[in-house]
Amino acid sequence: MHPPRRKSPLGPSEPFTIKHATSSYLRKGEKLPIFIVVIFIFLFALVMYSEDIKSLATYSFSGTRSPTHLVPHDLSSDKPKINHKQALAEKRKPGKKKRKKKLPAAQQLDPVLVETDRRNMAVLDVPETCDLSAGKWVFDNASYPFYREDECGFLTSQVTCMRNGRRDDMYQKWRWQPNDCSLPKFDARLFLERLRGKRFMFVGDSLNRNQWESMVCLVQSALSPGKKRKSWKGSLTIFHAEEYNATVEFYWAPFLVESNSDDPKIHSILHRIIKAESIMGHAVHWKDVDYLVFNTYIWWMNTLTMKVMKPTAKDWSEHDEVVRAEAYGRVLKTWSNWLNENVNPAKTSVFFMSISPLHISPKVWGNPDGIKCAKETLPVLNFPGPLYLGTDRQMFDLAAAAAASQSATPVPVTYVDITTMSEYRKDAHTSVHTIRQGKVLTPEQQADPLTYADCIHWCLPGLPDTWNLILYTRILSRPARP
Ligand SMILES: *[C@@H]1O[C@H](CO)[C@@H](O)[C@H](O)[C@H]1NC(C)=O
Ligand SMILES: *[C@@H]1O[C@H](CO)[C@@H](O)[C@H](O)[C@H]1NC(C)=O
Repeated sequence: MHPPRRKSPLGPSEPFTIKHATSSYLRKGEKLPIFIVVIFIFLFALVMYSEDIKSLATYSFSGTRSPTHLVPHDLSSDKPKINHKQALAEKRKPGKKKRKKKLPAAQQLDPVLVETDRRNMAVLDVPETCDLSAGKWVFDNASYPFYREDECGFLTSQVTCMRNGRRDDMYQKWRWQPNDCSLPKFDARLFLERLRGKRFMFVGDSLNRNQWESMVCLVQSALSPGKKRKSWKGSLTIFHAEEYNATVEFYWAPFLVESNSDDPKIHSILHRIIKAESIMGHAVHWKDVDYLVFNTYIWWMNTLTMKVMKPTAKDWSEHDEVVRAEAYGRVLKTWSNWLNENVNPAKTSVFFMSISPLHISPKVWGNPDGIKCAKETLPVLNFPGPLYLGTDRQMFDLAAAAAASQSATPVPVTYVDITTMSEYRKDAHTSVHTIRQGKVLTPEQQADPLTYADCIHWCLPGLPDTWNLILYTRILSRPARP
């Protein structure tokens, strides 16, 4: 059997034995010289304190909690080791083990609490202060991809680039290397253990759906056949991980607020119109979800102004043209008001994904003969200075500011900056290896990238796996929520 936790001579219950003994000793000790009492208290404090230190140290640096991010994933280096059995066993059914220990009533007070605290501790220790958005892409075919296209039956043909005819596969094998720390490998069982009994939901547009598909593939390998499935309910697509009673969900709301483009299937609307102050129609479906991951960007980019329904309007035809940034700000305000009034921060963690960039102007990255992102097989590497791909940095800043200002409220939001790292990935889009109106592009269409290349969405496995790895890293580096 595993050693569930390194048992030091003093188990979790021991401090109470000591405290008990201490108090009775002190009662007798009233007649002792005061310095003996003082020394005793000092020693007692020392024992208690060092026990705390010891158990923390054991926890963080034992094999089960190996700080995998500290291990560089060079091509040459060995794989970071996580002892899954031990890590999982540690989390399983703590209650049962408890009952075996027959403790006197007075000593039974705390072990469960101690156990719960341990179970809820962080599993990784990538510091919050490490900026995961600054770094570089490193070729790493030893660790990547995390799964293979044909191993994940849940991928839709929108993103299965190889099956749709793509020949090169290097785009799957790049590891994001932040400057100041390292990302771990994705461990599906550790992550699902954290999601046990919980709901994880992406809310937004097709890029968040792209990321949801990635997340489903990242976790599904740890589930038994027949214990994983997708279901649909209105705007919600749900992946069920039955062995963990967990779900990974996607909710279609391309503007977050209500709009005339909210039908999850039929949303090719020429004139997109939003209700900038109305969100409840969607948000009732987000209530009490444990992890909420929002995004909204691409649907804003068709026009310079946004059509916003008048507050008193009876139908979509009554709307104003509002400058994009202003309308975006109003939507973010509506969203943040909803968070503040409806999210219980003790239960729910909130994330906002930054802009997923487009690659439609190859001369920007020094390929004047290119056609959009077609035929790009390598990331932009060692580019001097920023890439001007047309990413709307004003909208980036508005979303970043909205997320940042949540830290002054009880509902903090983690802004996940994936924009710059993704700007380098001109090679990672689905391009002509995708579908159009439900059908894989024909060879004739594939030969016409100017018309047909999709340089918005991303192949899977691929870049969105790294976005999810960042979520994974942040989530598992924090204590669990009850
Ligand atoms: C990784 O890439 C190197 C260099 O291209 C190659 O020699 C090696 O065989 C590859 N390894 C795997 C596991 O694909
Ligand atoms: C399963 O998870 C849901 C939350 O998604 C929770 O309400 C329910 O109690 C859980 N059921 C079991 C049997 O743990």
